[in-house]
Order: sequence, then C-alpha cells, then structure tokens
Amino acid sequence: MQAVRVHEGGELRVEDVPDPVPGPGEALVELRRAGLNRRDLLVTGGVYPFPLPLIPGSDGAGVRRDTGEEVVIFPSLRWGDREDAFGPEFEVLGGPTNGTFAELIALPEANLYPRPDGWSWEEAAAFPLAGLTAYRALFSRGGLRPGETVLVLGAGSGVSTLAVQLATQAGARVLVTSSSDEKIARSQELGAEAGVNYADTEDWPAAVKELGPVDLVVDSVGATWQQSLACVRPGGRVVVFGATRGTEVELQVRPFYFGQLSLLGTMMGSARDFDGLLRMVDEASWRPVVDAVLPFAEAPEALRRLEGDHFGKLLLDCD
Ligand SMILES: NC(=O)c1ccc[n+]([C@@H]2O[C@H](COP(=O)([O-])OP(=O)(O)OC[C@H]3O[C@@H](n4cnc5c(N)ncnc54)[C@H](OP(=O)(O)O)[C@@H]3O)[C@@H](O)[C@H]2O)c1
Repeated sequence: MQAVRVHEGGELRVEDVPDPVPGPGEALVELRRAGLNRRDLLVTGGVYPFPLPLIPGSDGAGVRRDTGEEVVIFPSLRWGDREDAFGPEFEVLGGPTNGTFAELIALPEANLYPRPDGWSWEEAAAFPLAGLTAYRALFSRGGLRPGETVLVLGAGSGVSTLAVQLATQAGARVLVTSSSDEKIARSQELGAEAGVNYADTEDWPAAVKELGPVDLVVDSVGATWQQSLACVRPGGRVVVFGATRGTEVELQVRPFYFGQLSLLGTMMGSARDFDGLLRMVDEASWRPVVDAVLPFAEAPEALRRLEGDHFGKLLLDCD
C-alpha cells in the first residue's frame, strides 16, 4: 500500500510499504479520508521520540474490508479501566502505533464505529480526535451545564471549532478568543455569541469579563493559564489540554484559592466519552468545519498549512 511515513530528521516520504496484517480481534480498514491534528506536527517534528519510520495520523474514516461497513476510527488505543484518567497501556493512534496517513490500517474492532448517518467522508474523518477532546474537556472534565457560559480560546483550531459547536448544542452560551476578527465572525456562525481578538486587545481577560461572568474556560494554548484563571467567575473552572504557545506558566496563588477556582487537565477521551460524543453527533444539526482536503501525496503541504493559518480541519484524500 501507499503510506506517508516520517523518517529521521522529520522528513516525510510518500512510499510503498507492506500492507498491514490484522491480528486477532482486529479488522482491516480501507481508508477514504484521514484528518490532521496538531499532534501530527509534534510527531513529525520529533517532540515525541517514537521509533522511525512511522505512519502518523490519528483520524480516519473508511470501509472495513471484511464486512463492507463504513466506519470512523476511535483514536484512543487501550484507554484502560478508569474514567478519570487513562492507564499505562494507553496510546494515541499515530505514534508509536502506525496511523491513518495510509491507504490501509489494521485496528482493534473495538476502535471502529459506524460512520455517522448522512456525514460525508470528510466530515466523518474530521471529528473523532478533536471532537473527543472537546467533548471530554467540556462535559466529562469541565462539567458544562445548559445555560452556563464557556470561553473557548483560539477559535480557529480544529478542537475549538468543535468545542463551539458541541457547547452550543448543549445549550451553553459560548464566547471565543481568536487572533482574527474574521475567525470570531466565523465562530459566531457556529454558535458563539461574541469574541475578543487577543492579538489587538492588551488586557483580553478584562475584555472577556465585560461580556459577562464565565463559568468555564477551555484552554489549549498553554501559556495562557493565568489569563484563563483571571477570566472565570469565583468558583469557576479552567480545563487545559494543550500547549500551542508554550509549556511553562507562572501563576498567582492567592487569587486562585481566594476565588475557589478549579484547574483541570484532560487528554483525549475514553470509550464512554466517545459514545457520548456520538450521541451528540447523531442529534447534531451542525457538521465539522473542513478547511481543506488535500491529495494524499501532498501530506507535507497539509502539515505546513496546519502550522499556519486555517479555520477548522485539514484532511487528506486516501482514495
Ligand atoms: N490533550 C489532548 O488530548 C489534545 C487533543 C487534541 C488537541 N490538543 C491540543 O489542542 C491544541 C489545538 O489543537 P488543534 O489540532 O485543534 O490545533 P490547530 O487546529 O493547529 O489550531 C491552533 C490554534 O491555536 C490558536 N492560538 C495560537 N496561539 C494562541 C494564543 N496565544 N492565544 C489563543 N489562541 C492561540 C490559533 O487560533 P486563532 O488563530 O483563532 O487565534 C490556532 O488556530 C494543540 O495545542 C493540541 O496539541 C490536545
């Protein structure tokens, strides 16, 4: 089969590799579309020291070769028994286990779910990892309830677009921050009520507070923990799951405990989270935002675009 593989130095090659062979309890999937995530940049950039060569990619949708069923892939491998955190065997598909930037993939049957009714291949491959992350951040960890206000940072990201859509569907009031007024306007089309441009607003937490009390912040930026904590009402929650702009923060301790605040980490999601996400998907009037679909051979260009300016999800055509 053809696959995109990362080699030493982060070099990406589209090349012929042996077809994967399904083991016991596994099925072979002919991939139609693969979705890109920021994690793929961390994998190709060597942030995660996985053995190389490696096929990256956590998201995909395709056809089971044995049954003909149209499936989407649940990208958490071996989550474990607990709901509050994954166990020691956990892995995200796409490193170290070969991922979805390929024509074929062999996966445990437990990781294959029916393609949502009426969703295109693009839409089906766009939502699993980002939707799962957003679902767990908002609901399982963040405890978001109807009528509450949630602030989603970095409106343009793949996870953020899905977070806006899921929170809106759940009856929450949604605010966003973004580097661009255009992305804020596009978030409003997805259900956000208002937004603050963090690039041209020096004290953006103050601008957020003027929009009303915030119960929950969903923060994948990392470097912004202090500002996120400053945005929430007394008793509010901040859920963090990314470090797009940095891995170190300095926090003011007293306002944190005076304010009775909660800072919660999250990462991917369990099968229970994925079931909850699929229940929402079944009833959704929205569809994932697809920024672009690129030919399979243009994976390096797709990853460059992911690093730069985009709104929503980037995909590869694996047909
Ligand atoms: N822990 C997990 O399970 C998990 C799963 C998925 C993703 N993640 C993490 O979540 C983040 C988003 O992932 P993705 O794949 O959705 O990324 P993405 O599509 O590449 O989006 C990144 C976005 O971050 C925003 N951003 C950058 N600097 C910012 C700043 N200073 N303040 C606010 N926003 C800023 C930008 O949005 P604007 O242009 O709108 O400002 C940009 O579009 C990444 O850090 C990723 O590693 C974690």
